[in-house]
Amino acid sequence: MSHPRVIAIVAALSAVCAAANALARQPAGEAQAAKNKIAVCEGCHGIAGYRTAFPVVYHVPKLGGQQAAYLVKALEAYKSGERKHPSMRGIAASLTEQDMADLAAYYSGKTK
Ligand code: HEC
Repeated sequence: MSHPRVIAIVAALSAVCAAANALARQPAGEAQAAKNKIAVCEGCHGIAGYRTAFPVVYHVPKLGGQQAAYLVKALEAYKSGERKHPSMRGIAASLTEQDMADLAAYYSGKTK
């Protein structure tokens, strides 16, 4: 005895679940893939004790060794405007979710 309606319902539900999963999932960060994305970041973040002169003299935070989830959240906050620093907003605006995940993986695995 077969239950085509049950099968159809189960199939529909699993399709919905798959779609919800795809939406909720953050891209997995690839530290290796960040290697060609960090050049711009290193200009400010790669120099120990570096302070930007624009728009005001400002201490640049160290990224190496911070939690990947924290770094992604920070970059998203610059992109959305929740964080207001103008240079970081400009930079984050050009990053995709994948870029952010890759950069976070790279910096979280780096100790300095
Ligand atoms: C022009 C200099 C400059 C460049 C280039 C730059 N940053 Fe920044 N970044 C800053 C400054 C200054 C801050 C601190 C801003 C603030 O207080 O919100 C900052 C903050 C951050 C933060 C938050 C750190 C924390 O501790 O909360 C992250 C994450 C970050 N930058 C990632 C990046 C990445 C990734 C790149 C390259 C794609 C990059 N930055 C390029 C100057 C720069």
